[in-house]
This record gives sequence, C-alpha cells and structure tokens, in this order.
Amino acid sequence: MSRTATIDRQPAWRALQAHADEVRTTHLRELFAEQPGRFAYFHRQAAGLTLDLSKQRWRPETLELLLELAREAGVPKAIEGLLSGERVNRSEDRPALHTALRLPADACLEVEGEDLVSAVHRTLTRMEAMVAKFHAGQWRGATGRTISDVVNLGVGGSDLGPLMVTHALADYRPAGVHEIHVHFASTMDGSQLADYLSRLNPETTLFVLSSKSFTTIDTLSNARTARDWLFSRLVVAERELAVDVDRDLVMRQHFIGVSASPEKMSEWGIAEVNQLEFWEWVGGRYSLWGAIGLPIALVVGMARFRELLAGAHAMDRHFQAAALEDNLPVLLALAGIWNVNFLDIRAHSILPYDGRLEYFASYLEQLEMESNGKSVTHDGQVTTYSTCPVLWGQLGPNAQHAFYQLLHQGTQAVECDFIAPLRRYDDVIDDATRTHLKNQHRLTLANCFAQSRVLMLGDNAIDEPGERPNHKRYRGNQPSTTLLLDRLTPRTLGALIALYEHKVFVQATIWDINPFDQWGVELGKQIAGETDRILASRQGLDAMDDSSRGLIEALWRVEEQ
Ligand code: F6P
Repeated sequence: MSRTATIDRQPAWRALQAHADEVRTTHLRELFAEQPGRFAYFHRQAAGLTLDLSKQRWRPETLELLLELAREAGVPKAIEGLLSGERVNRSEDRPALHTALRLPADACLEVEGEDLVSAVHRTLTRMEAMVAKFHAGQWRGATGRTISDVVNLGVGGSDLGPLMVTHALADYRPAGVHEIHVHFASTMDGSQLADYLSRLNPETTLFVLSSKSFTTIDTLSNARTARDWLFSRLVVAERELAVDVDRDLVMRQHFIGVSASPEKMSEWGIAEVNQLEFWEWVGGRYSLWGAIGLPIALVVGMARFRELLAGAHAMDRHFQAAALEDNLPVLLALAGIWNVNFLDIRAHSILPYDGRLEYFASYLEQLEMESNGKSVTHDGQVTTYSTCPVLWGQLGPNAQHAFYQLLHQGTQAVECDFIAPLRRYDDVIDDATRTHLKNQHRLTLANCFAQSRVLMLGDNAIDEPGERPNHKRYRGNQPSTTLLLDRLTPRTLGALIALYEHKVFVQATIWDINPFDQWGVELGKQIAGETDRILASRQGLDAMDDSSRGLIEALWRVEEQ
C-alpha cells in the first residue's frame, strides 16, 4: 500500500463498501438458505481449535474481498516482520516479541545481534528452580515456616493474564507437591489486598511484585502496604516468636519481583536472587508467557506451563505458515473488520461457555481495547475509519440471565464470540457425579449452540413462528463466531490466547495503527497525580473545573466531619 493513501482509499476497501450495501439488507437466514454447506465452507481447524465463521453476515465473495484487503494492507509481510523481530512497535521503536517467549529451546532467533531463545530459556530455567522450591515445601518465610500462600501484586497485563490462566487451568494442579494457594490483588484502593491481609498468615505468605515498569502506582501502593504488614507482624513479633527476624530477611523470604527494570526492583529492596526479568520488547498485555506467568507455574507446575507455551507456539507456526484463507487469526480478524468497518457493528461480546474461562472476557478487554483502541495511524494521521469495537463479556450461561435480552431484542447490533470445549469431566472418578457433571456440560453446549442459532435466525429458529406481538418477536441477524476446543488444556488455552493476540495484530495492520503502545493511558495517570497532590495539600483547587471542584469539596466536607 502506498504510504500516502490510507486503507479506506484502496480498491479492496471500496469494493467491500459497494458489496456491503448489498449484503447489509440480507438476513442471515437468507444467507444460510442460499448457501448449502455453509459450515463446511466457513469453518477451519488448527492447533486443537475449530473456528466456525458461518454465522457471520457474509458471503464467499465477501471473504474473497476481505482477503484481498489483507493482501493490500501487507498482512503477510507484517506477520513476517512481527515474528522475525522487526521494530513493529514504531512509536516506542522496538520489536514486539511475545512469540519469542514461547519458542522451543532448540529454535533460533537472533534479533539485532542478541540470541533471544537462550535468554528466554535462562529465565524459564530460573522460574523452574523457584517453582520446584515452592512445590517441595522448601521456600520458607522469615520465621522458618513453609510458604503456602502467594499473592500476586500487579495490574493490567501484570494481573489479567496470570489471573485468567490460573483460573482456567486450576484442574491441572500437579499431584504430590506442596500446594501453593495463589491470590491476586490489583485494585489501587487496596480492597482485595486488605481482604487477604485479614485472612492470611504473614509467616507463610509471599508476595510477587509484578510490574513491567516497576513504577505503576497501583501496584507499588499495594506493595508498600504488604511490606509494612509483614514488617509489623514479623519484625515486631521477633521476641514473641523467639526468632531473629530482621527486615532484610523478610525482604528475602517474602518478596519476588518480576519486571523489565532490575534497577527499580533493587531500589525497592527485592533481593537480586528473587528478581525475574523480562524485556522491553514484551508488551505488558502480551507478557503472561514469561516471568509474569510465575503464578501460573506455581499453580499448574512448570511442565504444564511449558505445554501452555507449546500450544501458543503451535498457533504461531500456523499463523506464519497457513495461507491467508486458512489462517485462523487472519479470518477472525477479517470477520471483525467486516463488522466494524462495513456493517457498522461496533459492539463485540465475548461469551465463554465454561466456568473456567470466567476471566477470559476481562483479559480480552485489555488485549483488544488497549491494543487497538487507537485513532492515529503509524504515520501520525487521524484515521478516517473506525477501529476497535467496544468489547465486553462474561460467562455465556450467566450472561443469558443478564444482558442477552439486549442481544436478542435491543437496538444494538452486536458481534458475539461463543467459546466452548467439546469434552469435559472425563476424569471425574465418582461415576454418579461424573454422569451428572457430563449432563451439565451437554446442557451448557446445548445452550451455547441454541443461543448462536437464535441470534442468527430470530423467530425463524422455531418451525412455526406464527403471529406474535412485537414484544415477543426476535429479529435475529446478529453475527457470531463459534470457537470450539476439543478440551480445555494448557495447550488449547495457549493456542486460544495466541489466536486472539494475532487477530489483534492483523486488525491493527489493516487499520494501520500500532497495537503495542498505550499512550492513551498516560494523561489520566498524570492528572490523577496532580489531583492527589491537591487532595493532600488542599491547595490549587481554583485551577480546577467546576465539576471537579464540587467533587473535591464534597470529599473535604466529609473529611472535616
Ligand atoms: O496503564 C496501562 C499499563 O501500562 C498496561 O499497559 C500494563 O499492562 C499495566 O499498566 C501495568 O503496567 P506495569 O506492568 O508496568 O505495572
């Protein structure tokens, strides 16, 4: 594509606009009626995942035109650039090499003279040693008791990935090891942390400070509170416990740091042996594959953590090698582009039908919206087209009793992703319980398939819709994608996450935006700092706008009572 012409001036974009005028007025049920074998045509499989795109509001010609758009936008070359370590994060002038974190040990990737594979595997080996020590019950707190609770203090990418995966893979805890209970505290108001502090024993609790920058106020506030809790409970209790506990010992036995800034970890007091490093070329929301994944490895063990990496790597290989028309991330991205840019569908709901994926939607909210919630191209031009849709979601079966009403009868067009494993509960030992749980799983799949069908067909999902008042009518025609996993395993989960990471990249490539920076969060941080100074000093209120002044004065009135 020429650098001066934006993507919406390119032939494929224009052809898609013309084509959309015609498809827009065609209902999904007509698309199904006119194309027998639509599932066979529009579904693909790779890395243990099945992607069904047949319920998108498109025709085979639509996909042809979208593939042409991808070619015009240079998607194949962009994929090569991403995976080979080009400086694709242009505003920060660095590569985005999360895929390097999941390369096998015998792979080779040298970027700008550095052998990344060895560096990555050195960190994995250090993680492995740490995890082994915890699982052997040999990581002891300052008073000599074995650590049994680990609290991850981090936010955004330093929280959501590990939180989502530890929850999803909780079934995969290894047998016969000392169990570590892993908790997550992210909120800057301290409410999650306060709850843990009221319940956990300081002698057996360790904190992992996860922060790429090690400057994030949310995490550092929680970390300070945690540190002082340990000092006051362990150091002051020295005589009572009859153990020689000093602050250095507490720091050494109760804190691990994970960051791209070893200097800042040292300044904060994290012992060098407890520092796990990662690199500036790993974006925060793409970082669960390395040291930020320590909580995951503490829950499932290092062998399963490596399976998670292998699953993601399988998706990376597919992304690199598959033709565009068979490439799952590319196809998922194109469905999104079609909805946002040509059908004006700018809301996207993520609906997993498996309780273990409870945090998957929150994870994707950051991945997609922090990556592609942009309106400036690589060249600094304001985009003349829409980019990332508003994305939200929650467990599908629960959402059926919450916001599906809007999906079925509201005024918004919404694209939905249904996600479900085909097999579940095979390993439940007790026969009666297994039968019940398997029935529950089948019921859940029935709901998953039924909901996407009703959203597609509306009233026509039943044979004889008959005459009905408007409030009982369903218009259907809501597009959806269904993603099936054979089972939810470390491997398939790894592939699923990587699928969405690459989808985001392909969309960013077509929209000509940088998915790896997040300048949009900076101003809020700066103004929050200034506001906090005003709250503390009670000076400078005159410079504020009328609403902010009113809110601050309301706070001060309460403080004065
Ligand atoms: O404020 C946004 C952000 O920078 C995210 O991109 C990041 O994942 C999160 O904050 C946490 O940052 P850090 O890991 O540096 O503490």
